[in-house]
Amino acid sequence: MSFSNDAFILQGMTYHQRTFGCQMNKHDSERVAGMLEALGMLPVATVEEADLVVFMTCCVREAADVRLMGQVASLKSVPTVNSRRIIAVGGCIGQRDGEKLVQQIPHIDVVFGTQNIAQLPQLIEQSLRDGQPRVQIVEDSQRTSERQTETATLPAHREQSWHAWVSIISGCNNFCSYCVVPYVRGRERSRPLQDILEEVERLVAEGVKEITLLGQNVNSYGRDLYGESRFDEVFRLVGSSGIERLRFATSHPKDLSDATIAAFAEVKAVMPQLHLPVQSGSNRILSAMNRNYTAEHYLSLIDKVKSTAGDVAFSTDIIVGFPGETEADFEATMALARQVGYSQAFTFIYSRRQGTPAASLIDETPRELIQERFDRLVGLVQHSAKEQNQKELNAVIPVLFEGSSKRDPQILTGKSPKNQTVHIPLPAGSRSSDFAGSLREVRIEEARTWYLRGSLV
Ligand code: 5AD
Ligand code: SF4
Repeated sequence: MSFSNDAFILQGMTYHQRTFGCQMNKHDSERVAGMLEALGMLPVATVEEADLVVFMTCCVREAADVRLMGQVASLKSVPTVNSRRIIAVGGCIGQRDGEKLVQQIPHIDVVFGTQNIAQLPQLIEQSLRDGQPRVQIVEDSQRTSERQTETATLPAHREQSWHAWVSIISGCNNFCSYCVVPYVRGRERSRPLQDILEEVERLVAEGVKEITLLGQNVNSYGRDLYGESRFDEVFRLVGSSGIERLRFATSHPKDLSDATIAAFAEVKAVMPQLHLPVQSGSNRILSAMNRNYTAEHYLSLIDKVKSTAGDVAFSTDIIVGFPGETEADFEATMALARQVGYSQAFTFIYSRRQGTPAASLIDETPRELIQERFDRLVGLVQHSAKEQNQKELNAVIPVLFEGSSKRDPQILTGKSPKNQTVHIPLPAGSRSSDFAGSLREVRIEEARTWYLRGSLV
């Protein structure tokens, strides 16, 4: 990364960052923070104190898109203690709308695309100098692996020092009929295996205990570079780097291969947790969604994972209210969810996104009916989450501690191998910081819907 004389301008200025959406955005935000802090900027908790406000945006669903733009619109570019307040918009809305954003909201100073994080300091500096807005977006056709590496090697300010995100593939080729991601983030681009391994080695040397491999579809890792998926190899190589815990997201069911399932089961560092978005349990709806698998195939994958890897926690994404979804379709989703017994599910009401094939589908299902179905599904997931948690009662499990609970400083919080939240009382005479980032054995004494409670053994 080149530190030009922008560093002198930004040095000592304050920034406030707001992040929306998926883990990829969270990871990008850690890099924005790392880069700004490397240039001498200081993070602050409120917009009022900030010389720079950065929004990392998401446009997967309409409600968030609208709310977010409302937040940006209500902020004015006003003089602050040191200078004029700069408002920068990155993430998916920045990438999608580019120039249009500054036309719509003239007090936006900087718009940067998902592949332009490294240019953010120059854009801020230029806009500070002449008061003119700056927009920089790389179109998908101009994306190169050098640029991917450039973004991936930016310094990251990690929210937790022992956890790191490692991006292995970005973009998506699947074109599910409801989804904007392939249009915004472009086609799949994998990072060379060597780059990934070097980053992982560096992180392990820095003391990172847990890595989450990231991609819109990690299962197709390597196809664009090597002609075939090499995700199983990523598991094996990263798994032997000395990292304690390895997680990954997201997997597309149509690309989850036997080789990946075998590596998932074999590699000790890979945690027994699989996020496998199903979206619907109805084959008619799955086909209209362009998901390219059936409910039966999905269930056969779950069985295969269970028989190969044993006790695994499954999580998923489900959309309720896709155009034309009938009661029978919805019941098929409920039946599938019951059969899998999810530990967690991210449930969404379908949101019509302009430019996607599903946007032209007509739907007459009343909103209240969709909401009522959604609530039924949420109830079912809560029930299965509790059931899954109850399986851990009396077990002794290794917990990676994060620190004290936000609600109660006398409670320590951490994560089980299956990614369940675990609470224990802070032992007398110790500080929560003694535990942050450490792995300890915990006996589970109580199982609730969203957390387990226990004590150190
Ligand atoms: N409406 C509702 N949910 C959506 N998702 C993606 N696009 C939409 C949409 N238009 C959900 C899917 C995906 C998750 C990240 O967001 O469930 O897996
Ligand atoms: Fe969107 Fe489908 Fe790609 Fe996931 S796999 S990012 S839902 S298009």
